[in-house]
Parts: sequence; C-alpha cells; structure tokens
Amino acid sequence: MKLSKISTALLATGLASQVLAAPAMNKNPLADLPYANKTENGYSLDFNDKNYTTVTTEINGKKITYRAYEKIVYVANPVEPEYQTLNFYVPEEYYQNGEINGYNAKTAPIFLPNAIGGYMPATAAAASQSGMGGKTSTILTALERGYVVASVGARGRTLKQGNTYTGKAPAVILDLKAAVRYLHANDDKMVGDANKIISNGTSAGGAMSALLGASGDSADYAKLLKEMGAVNASDAIFAVSAYCPITNLENADTAYEWEFNGLHHYSRMDMSKLDAKTFNDRSMKQATIEGELSADEIKISNDLKAQFPDYLNSLQLKDEKSNALTLDKDGNGSFRTYVENALVLSANQTLSGLNTDEKKAFVEKYKGLSYANGIVSAVNLTEFVTNKARMKSPPAFDALDLSSGENDEFGTETVQTLHFTPYSLKNSTIKGGMAKDENIKLLNAMNYTDNDKAAQHWRIRVGSEDYDTSHAISAMLAVKLKMSGKNVDYALPWGVGHAGDYDLDELFDWVDKIAR
Ligand code: DHB
Repeated sequence: MKLSKISTALLATGLASQVLAAPAMNKNPLADLPYANKTENGYSLDFNDKNYTTVTTEINGKKITYRAYEKIVYVANPVEPEYQTLNFYVPEEYYQNGEINGYNAKTAPIFLPNAIGGYMPATAAAASQSGMGGKTSTILTALERGYVVASVGARGRTLKQGNTYTGKAPAVILDLKAAVRYLHANDDKMVGDANKIISNGTSAGGAMSALLGASGDSADYAKLLKEMGAVNASDAIFAVSAYCPITNLENADTAYEWEFNGLHHYSRMDMSKLDAKTFNDRSMKQATIEGELSADEIKISNDLKAQFPDYLNSLQLKDEKSNALTLDKDGNGSFRTYVENALVLSANQTLSGLNTDEKKAFVEKYKGLSYANGIVSAVNLTEFVTNKARMKSPPAFDALDLSSGENDEFGTETVQTLHFTPYSLKNSTIKGGMAKDENIKLLNAMNYTDNDKAAQHWRIRVGSEDYDTSHAISAMLAVKLKMSGKNVDYALPWGVGHAGDYDLDELFDWVDKIAR
C-alpha cells in the first residue's frame, strides 16, 4: 500500500512533509529551449501543430511515445515569459486514429498540472522531469492513462525586474486562467477535449488548482486578463484535483489556532533560510526552528482561536443531511465533529487493511482515538493534534513582522510584503500596510464556490498529519462546494503529511469515472 509507505517516511523524519510538498523545480530542463511561438512582433496565440518533437520513453516498465509541444507562451504580452508558458504533451497513438483507455484524439481529457509551491514562481514541468519527491513522473503516468497533458507555469511572489515585483497576487491565478483560455481558444487544433480540463496541484499549487476551478469565467478577472494579453475565450474547467490546498489565507490564522491552540511546542520552517531555489529543490530539507510559544504568542493564539467560530458560523454550512455545521464560542460543535468524522473514516480505511497485531500497534501509536472491536468510533481532535508539534507559530500566515511567504505573496509591484488580515494589521510589529481587498478576494477559492461556471467535479486530499494549514480550511471548502451541488470527493488520507501526487492510480481512476 502506497499510502502507508509514505506515512512511515513522514513520521520518521517529520521534515519530510516539507520536502515532499515542494514541486518539481529541479533545474528546468527546458531553460535553454527557445519559445515555440515567438514572432517578430510578440507571441502568436494560434497553436502550431507542426512544432513538436517525438519522444519515446519508459514508464512503469512500459514504452510510451508522445509528441512534445514545449515552451508555448500563453499570453500575448508576457512579463515573465519563462514562467507564462505551457508544455503540451500528446500520446502518439492519437495521431494514428488510436484509442487509449477508451479515449481518442477528440475525447481525451486534458490533465493540467501546475508545479506551484510556496506561492513561488514555477516553470511548467517537463515530461522529462521526475515527479514529486523524485518519484515517477505524474505527466508520464497521465500520458500512459491516455490523457493529454498541458503542464502550466505561472509567476510567483519572488519575481523582480529592477525595482519592480512582477509576480505578486493575483498574477499566479491570472496566468493559470490565461493558459486555460489558450487551450479553449485552440481546442479545434489541439488533440484532447478542452471541455474536460482537470487541474492538479499541491499546497499553494493545490490552492491555485481549487481557485482555477471555482472561479471559471468569473467577470472579476476579465479586465486584468485582457490587459495582460490573454486570449478572449473561456477559462472554465471541468474538474479539480487539489492536494492540501493552502487557500482561504485571510481566515487561515484563526482556523489554525482553532485546531492547534493547545500546542505550545513548534517545529517550523526557518523563513530566513528560505529562498526559491532551496524551497523548490525537492532533494533539500528545509531548515527548521524548534521552540516554545512565548506568553505573547499564546495570547495571540487565544485571540485568533476566539475569532474563528464567528467566521465559520457566517458561512452557514450544512452537511449532506442538511444538518447545520456550527461552532460555539469555544470552538466546539457540529463542525468540529464533521472534521473529526473525516478522520474516523480515514482511520478505519487504514485499519481495514491491517491484521490484529498491526491494529493494536496502530491504535497505541495515536492519541485521541476511541477504539473498540477493530474500529475507530471517534477521534477527539484536541487530543489527536498532540501527536505532532505545531508547524507554525501564531499568526501562522499573516506574520506580525511581515515575514511569511503569504505576506510576500500579497505585496505589490513596489511593496514587497503586506498584511491581509485586520488582526495582523492592527498588531503589526513593523507598521506594515494592508493588501487591497480586491487582491485578497481574487486569490481565495471560497469566494467562488457558488459561481455558475465553477468546475463540477472535485477531488480534495489533505493528509491527516498535514499541519501546514488547519484541516478546517479544506473541510469548509469541501462543504461549500457540496452545498452548491458539486460532485466532491474529500478525504484525509491517514498518516500523510504535507504532500501531493502520492496516489496517482486512485486520482486517475477518479478522472476516468468523471470523464469517460
Ligand atoms: C506551502 C506551504 C506552506 O506552509 C505555506 O504556508 C504556503 C505554501 C507549499 O508547500 O506550497
């Protein structure tokens, strides 16, 4: 079982979660390749089906041949063409009237992975690169399953030209939308079905995958897309795969303390030692700082925890049986039970594959489980979270000294970092400024779950041991999507930390179920 292998590795190192989550940015193998569509006066947004190389390689012991259309700039006026680029891969069979897995040249779904991590810039992953954590390439696996792959790059928070930042919010989502528009505009000329685009991403990339799916064709982005030279076409997609989405940033601090308030020991990333290269190089462990929350930080944690129930209750969430999901002022109530029940389901799924001795060892290993007769009947979240140290000190996202990656994401062309919550603005230790409401809004998938053109199909996975953001974040998103009639497959795989692409067989089985 793949999952249990991963979970053992994560438990053993504690740090591995960070390493696994960082996407494939080990030097871009296409860095020296010229842009496919550069013309004398800009970039052509007409797909050229003659401009490809044919590649034969092996995946899972099987030979596959595909056509590679690489380094296509997907906007007319790129600011950072190295990142505003997509790579398009097509199984060769589709040019010979072949079928794979029940799909043909017209019907093949388009799998759209992004390699975004940490809200950093990400080049479009190449089929020749290995997958996350050095594992089998997600792109090749998708091609083997008969999908067409559009691997997309996007700008990120650290990009700078002279004194101007070129990749702050909402650049990342505008780029992904522009790439989707390119696919729709060229659907007749490209193999695959642009009405069957399935986006995939992990962490910040999972958040962007979710946002791309939720905000399809939203008018909120139209003007900005036009200004950047995106083609005038739909940016709606069919389905979303999101691993551990770090979304809903403006409510993530309160959600974090709702879940982790009692944990005073932390083991967090050393942001001062973090740069794009080390974060995105999956072979490098990130430096961490161990410590105890100070009395001030415990007070901040208590303040933030106390704010969460009001937000949660304002969403007016309901479960599948129309029961209200709410929290009392202490953070207890039916919403907490909803999250706990997702953990119960996950624990029992793992238990069902274990023998009696293994079951005993499993239950002894974890605090917070109520167990009898081979099944877990309840998880007490307050006790369960004590199985690990907290990963972030409060406020987890909008740092009072503007030191977080998210502060950096919400900067502007001229200001490196900004606050994005009233609490941290008020308590800023360095008199930081506030991001524009519009930029905060445009980055949060929660604002678009009721959008008419939102993706219909959703697969959301967050490891039970992922402490990068609260489990409440994905739970709220999943419930909101279900309430607006979406088909949502939401689960918290047991023992998994902050990671993605660890269950590709299951992911692609799900794609076949919705796309065929
Ligand atoms: C990622 C992880 C984080 O903890 C975070 O705050 C933002 C992004 C990531 O792995 O992409």
